[in-house]
Amino acid sequence: MSVVQPLRPMPAPGEHSMPQSPYDALVRPDGSVHRTLFTDPAIFDQEMVKIFGGTWVFLLHETEIPLANDFKCINVGRRPVIVTRTADGDIRALMNRCTHRGTTLCMESHGNAKRFQCAYHGWAFSNTGELQTVTFAEGYGPAFDKAAHNLGRFPRVESYGGYVFGSLNPDVEPLSQWIGPAHEMIDWSRTALTTPGARVVRSSSMVFNANWKLQNDNNGDMYHVPFTHRSVAQMTSERHGAGKALDHFRGDNTPMTVKYYGHGHKSIDQRPSIPSPWARARPVPGRETYAAALAARFDPEQTERFLNMTGRAGINLILYPNLIIAGAGSFNVYEPVAVDKTIVHSYGVVLDDAPAEVNALKSRFIEDFTGFGYRDDNEIFERIQHSLSTIPEMEWVDFSKGLGTSRESVGADGAITGAVSDETGIRGAYTYWRELMGRDVHPRVLV
Ligand code: FES
Ligand SMILES: [Fe+2]
Repeated sequence: MSVVQPLRPMPAPGEHSMPQSPYDALVRPDGSVHRTLFTDPAIFDQEMVKIFGGTWVFLLHETEIPLANDFKCINVGRRPVIVTRTADGDIRALMNRCTHRGTTLCMESHGNAKRFQCAYHGWAFSNTGELQTVTFAEGYGPAFDKAAHNLGRFPRVESYGGYVFGSLNPDVEPLSQWIGPAHEMIDWSRTALTTPGARVVRSSSMVFNANWKLQNDNNGDMYHVPFTHRSVAQMTSERHGAGKALDHFRGDNTPMTVKYYGHGHKSIDQRPSIPSPWARARPVPGRETYAAALAARFDPEQTERFLNMTGRAGINLILYPNLIIAGAGSFNVYEPVAVDKTIVHSYGVVLDDAPAEVNALKSRFIEDFTGFGYRDDNEIFERIQHSLSTIPEMEWVDFSKGLGTSRESVGADGAITGAVSDETGIRGAYTYWRELMGRDVHPRVLV
């Protein structure tokens, strides 16, 4: 084992030096991270407490439960949760666990319900979490406290721009403070790429047999694109010539950047190299037909605006630990299942105020990179998982690109900017991992 360097945390907004913890030695100031972060089930279990139970975690988009009494079942970390919209419009995150003997209460993925009744002994709960009915109640003595048997619920639920987050840590910082300077990209995505009638729809889910952090890293990694996705790039250029999709990145001589915002959040900003997302977007079925239909109905400026709402629009914003907003309003959510198994859920946005052609093209673009690109990445994640698991003699993974160069700078908002292929954001996220894992947090639920 190499000698552990003295700690020299990367300066980042909102982060302060913490007392030493057993996790400090696993993330080193030279940009290397210990392989056990990806392979050790005990570390994974602690992540479910300290990270998925200790900070803000993305739950859903408000438009997924638009009506009173709508609900959706999700897993937050590994905890089954029912997110409800109550009759008065509030959003609650309830533990999907009967308070009698522990049965999972709701097995539907989503729906509309005022009450949830347990399949085992029939206890029934309101969608605010209150225990309403105890069956054959005469069997309970005077000491039985009905209110103490309400469903467990998240002590904190807040939303920003329609994205709803919850935390089991009652002392977590306010959501806006946690998002920090990363709000700029959320605001841009909402105003430039959507219409007031935007609503989120489920697209697809993919499973890969590797650690969830590999997906989180990868979404902030432009370095891999020309190599991992070579076949996609080659196919595009052979069929359609230059200037489409991935060939705007061939190294760092571009105005594109990566950023680290603090609190684990990072981004890739391709916007400076993509003046027109529509012109840059890969060909998809129906592209010319839909574009012609829009051009026949709208003036050139409005047509251009609609077309630029359709494709991937050049941002990857990763809000730690489980959300990436990938442009054009589409987003993915990472669901950790085990130390070596992850589900990625993909969502698209339908614009009810836009012409049907815009929504058809948005669907084609979501299918496109999900179909061709994600499987390349998943293959890499599984190769990494295999090698890290089977070669314990090689302990460290390297995330040092950009470190110690003059390529990184700190802006007025505290965000650190690096060249687009640098590992600036990924390294920052591991600094936050170390901070979260070192905290003495006690996740809890309200009843
Ligand atoms: S476990 Fe739910 S009512 Fe008994
Ligand atoms: Fe990729």
